[in-house]
Amino acid sequence: MSNAKDTWAAKGYIDEPIPQGIDLKAEIRRLCAEKKAVIMAHYYTEGEIQDVADFVGDSLALAQWAEKTDAEIIVMCGVHFMGETNKILCPNKKILLPDLNASCSLAESCPATDFAAFTAAHPDHKVISYVNTSAAVKAHTDVVVTSSNAKEIVESFPADQPLIFGPDRNLGGYINAVTGRNMLLWNGACHVHERFSVEKLVALKAEYPGAKVLVHPECKGAIVKLADKVGSTAALLKYATESEADTFLVVTESGILHEMQRQSPDKHFIPVPPEDAACACNECNFMRLITLKKLYLTLVHEWPEVHVDQDVIAAARRPIDEMLRISKELGL
Ligand code: 13P
Ligand code: SF4
Repeated sequence: MSNAKDTWAAKGYIDEPIPQGIDLKAEIRRLCAEKKAVIMAHYYTEGEIQDVADFVGDSLALAQWAEKTDAEIIVMCGVHFMGETNKILCPNKKILLPDLNASCSLAESCPATDFAAFTAAHPDHKVISYVNTSAAVKAHTDVVVTSSNAKEIVESFPADQPLIFGPDRNLGGYINAVTGRNMLLWNGACHVHERFSVEKLVALKAEYPGAKVLVHPECKGAIVKLADKVGSTAALLKYATESEADTFLVVTESGILHEMQRQSPDKHFIPVPPEDAACACNECNFMRLITLKKLYLTLVHEWPEVHVDQDVIAAARRPIDEMLRISKELGL
């Protein structure tokens, strides 16, 4: 077994055969009940992962939900920084992530030591970090935001307070535009949201003239300008559900279409393609590492586990708590 564990550790996930003929979804639910475990999933994961989860949400809702659950184990079906956020909020729970390779290009674009040097060079600035960062970056932050609350949290600072925003230059630029602030921006981006094609979106708008354009603010400014609604995955979902329109061009990771279609089965959701591919969908390769098989094996073996150093937990907890406190105050 120790050889098997060394192989898993090298791979970052459990690679062993599963019993033949097994009903994976039923077994996953049985293991959750047996082990007092819950499954949390982001909207960008595969539809079958969302279907088996206890809770599906955007980054803010996942953090709010983690804080409340009394489960002993949380299996985070999402990316590594989401597992870290859960560990920071619930240090006494076991936080499992079915594949430790599920990283995030945006979080990777902001190494903690470089970010610490950047913030140290601007000691008069308050530091706002997007939740898509490592725990170590959050430890150098005054308040964390998600795309659901970034505008409101930025506006909660006095207008003359100098601010740093990291790591997403697109979200930061969008928030600067809508708030009239002039935050210093870290030069990072998400490789999924940056690759949407303006030309393909314009062509789809011409093909579907009545369609509403739903855009995540991690996209480039030229895409955001074409939007009817800009918002987090949860905000785009709410808009689509409440809108009287029946056709939507969706400019974010295509996993969200699963829940959009489930909530509005009679509406028509069209994923906008990336510029560099012939395929129709823009998928996050990191989110898609989470499969039903890995989820099942993770529950069986209670591994891989997300660990965060105690001192980092202590330093990163405060800016996350601050985000949750302000969001609660604002009813978000
Ligand atoms: P939200 O869940 O806040 O919409 O963020 C999208 C994202 O890229 C998560 O990685
Ligand atoms: Fe990170 Fe982009 Fe994937 Fe979200 S979609 S997890 S920001 S790489």
